[in-house]
Amino acid sequence: MAVDFRGHPMFPSTGFNAPTRFEADIYDCEVWGRVPADIEGNFYRMQCDFQYRPPENEWPTGFNGDGHVSRFHFRDGNVNFRARYVKTARLLAERAAHRRLYGVYRNHYTDDPGVKNIDRSAANTHMYWHGGKLLTLKEDALPWAIDPHTLETEGVWDFHGKYKATSMSAHPKIDAQTGEMIAYGYQAKGDLTDDIASYIIGKDGRVAHEVWFKAPYVGIMHDIAITKKYILFPVVARTTSDERLKKGEPMWEWNGDLPTMVGVLPRDGSARDVRWFRGPARNTLHFLNAVDLPDGRIVMDLPTSSGERDPSQIRRWTFDMRSRTKDTFDEEVISTANGVLARMDDRYLGCDYRYCYVGNRDPSLPYDQARGGNMGGRVTNQYLRVDVRNPKGEPGKYFAGPVQSLQECAFVPRKGSRGEGDGYLMGIASNYESLTSDLVIVDAQRLEEGAIATVKLPFRLRSGTHVNWYPANELPPFRAG
Ligand SMILES: [Fe+2]
Repeated sequence: MAVDFRGHPMFPSTGFNAPTRFEADIYDCEVWGRVPADIEGNFYRMQCDFQYRPPENEWPTGFNGDGHVSRFHFRDGNVNFRARYVKTARLLAERAAHRRLYGVYRNHYTDDPGVKNIDRSAANTHMYWHGGKLLTLKEDALPWAIDPHTLETEGVWDFHGKYKATSMSAHPKIDAQTGEMIAYGYQAKGDLTDDIASYIIGKDGRVAHEVWFKAPYVGIMHDIAITKKYILFPVVARTTSDERLKKGEPMWEWNGDLPTMVGVLPRDGSARDVRWFRGPARNTLHFLNAVDLPDGRIVMDLPTSSGERDPSQIRRWTFDMRSRTKDTFDEEVISTANGVLARMDDRYLGCDYRYCYVGNRDPSLPYDQARGGNMGGRVTNQYLRVDVRNPKGEPGKYFAGPVQSLQECAFVPRKGSRGEGDGYLMGIASNYESLTSDLVIVDAQRLEEGAIATVKLPFRLRSGTHVNWYPANELPPFRAG
């Protein structure tokens, strides 16, 4: 049967987030403004796309689509664009069958029986360059490596056979000071298991340290945070059960009766060194940064909300490692910025830092519904630069425009710079009027001045999941393939 998305509740027949389903190359993209010469490298972004029609009760987040990577290569003010699907075993099996074979999000009971022994990764959430591999990630499976320039798929990667967990989260952390990647898997012995596996992977791409321990309950563990001394593993109140899966539902449901639990593991520690801290139920997927204070406490900053539908805020959780008896963490609100995706200058990850860059929705800014359609309540209309050392100060602001919505941004260091925040913000702006996508580049120290350059694409990219930037001097020599 031919593909037909009409009538599916996730995809209105027209609209910005209908599946795109194509691969593309654009040599020398159209650029409005001037791309600074001190930007040289690759900007990557991931979207969940849909080659085939998913079940009608699919998780409406769209997080069960096929991994689709865009690469913008920057050099001498010129930009080359490429977009490719990750050619996972899952996608190829579905192409062979000409239909969707995998069921709803992370529920193997709803899969076609024929895919039981086929790797189920959609490789659709994030991508990290480390140890000579560009890894595309989804948290219920192992990474899939792709070529950093051509985006051709290389295959499943298990770190020379030394990564034993069955899954790796899409949010490992790269420590810029050591070059190490701190990675982890949860449900690490298969669906619904309460095992967590923590890995430190050297900059050579080889496993250097492995720790296995148990979660207090099986909740979502989408992200972690690191300091110079510790790894923090938050378990939040979105949980699951075999009964739920047998009913044919997507994996997760919110349960506000559960506490937030944060496991703190010394980076060189073992399972017996893990300490769990408890807090009220919080709805979050992503964390921003964590820092060791001189007095022995740890602070962790994150966008989070108190319930499933509450607006997000940037909050700070404090863990007192000096006390052997205190098993709760304290919380304070740093900023009311309501975006759920906050980024920073990743060179300062785990270190004392100052700036948080977050997409925010300010309802007082103009939205032109006559031109942009009925999307006004959902637009992310500005990037904010929040000073976490002076959060009461006025944040820097970049307003995207009256029919635009911003996706996650990456911080791009100015070539040769060292100081925190000396660089640019780069992110996709969805234009709801023209149904096209732009890549906007803003000076991270002068957001109010607007976009320095806008890379114009003659088509739309769906709302994406995550983005990352890697400078040319960390990548192999560019080849278009
Ligand atoms: Fe994420």
